[in-house]
Amino acid sequence: MLIPVVDKALKEAKVTLNEIDLIAVAYGPGLVGALLIGINSAKALALALGKPFIGVNHIEAHLYAVIMSHPQQINFPVLGVVLSGGHTALVLVHDIGSYELIGQTADDAIGEAFDKAAKILELPYPGGPEIEALAQRGNPECFSFKAGQVKGKPFDFSFSGLKTAVLYAAKGQNGQLGHTQLNETDKCDIAAAFQQAALLDIVNKTNKAVEKYGCRTIILGGGVTNNQRLRQMFSEALPNHQILWPSRGLSLDNAAMIAGLGYPLYQRKQCSDSLGLEAATSLPF
Ligand code: KG4
Ligand code: ZN
Repeated sequence: MLIPVVDKALKEAKVTLNEIDLIAVAYGPGLVGALLIGINSAKALALALGKPFIGVNHIEAHLYAVIMSHPQQINFPVLGVVLSGGHTALVLVHDIGSYELIGQTADDAIGEAFDKAAKILELPYPGGPEIEALAQRGNPECFSFKAGQVKGKPFDFSFSGLKTAVLYAAKGQNGQLGHTQLNETDKCDIAAAFQQAALLDIVNKTNKAVEKYGCRTIILGGGVTNNQRLRQMFSEALPNHQILWPSRGLSLDNAAMIAGLGYPLYQRKQCSDSLGLEAATSLPF
């Protein structure tokens, strides 16, 4: 599977393997099977080509995707906001490679919450774009949903209660309503109320974090940054801040952000990672 993808990427970029200077690979966090395939292929390529090899943190790369989208514009420190299928995090970014985690999810990640809410509404995967499309036709005021707060951790996130509220609204407290009760208008209203509650929580916590840490610039990465309502809510809530988004094609998982981050990390280290590098399914920031 991987060889045809590498061939296609080289062909599209109009380069040959010999013109590649460095092999970068996501070594975590993530599912072990996928990580092992990537890591072992990268090691094999590096060894066969005699090129250096470097492991990259996938979540860090989501933030680098924004940085590489705006090469001239970043004045550190900035507040980083990671909104992906597996992670929700607020990170103080002092420089590329220098981070301070200030908030993360206590349960479901934001993208996961969109996917689970979509499943309850019997929408296909990935649920984020489906919920966004339905929400455009719904009234968020029809349901009073709220994201959770984590005691003693003002910058942490909790979306599992919100997901349960969606479940109750869609199927009744004991599932007694069943899916046949849910008409198109209800679905749109539930999607709109869920999206509003989830995104408002992110905007509010980001707003408090930039105030506390004195950041002028916010960089956002991960698949959920595709959401246009999120972008609109950020510009309305933070009109005096510089808000930077990933370019088209760099918000969902992509190899360019891994390669992009691999380069400055390698420049700093000035040496290859060990070929003994292992997959790290959970990797701290
Ligand atoms: O960053 P990503 O590609 O994968 C991970 O690293 O997890 O993010 C995928 C997630 C999925 O949960 C998907 O539903 C969500 O991003 N997503 C969206 C939108 N587009 C993708 N969520 C909300 N609104 C969207 N338009
Ligand atoms: Zn990702």
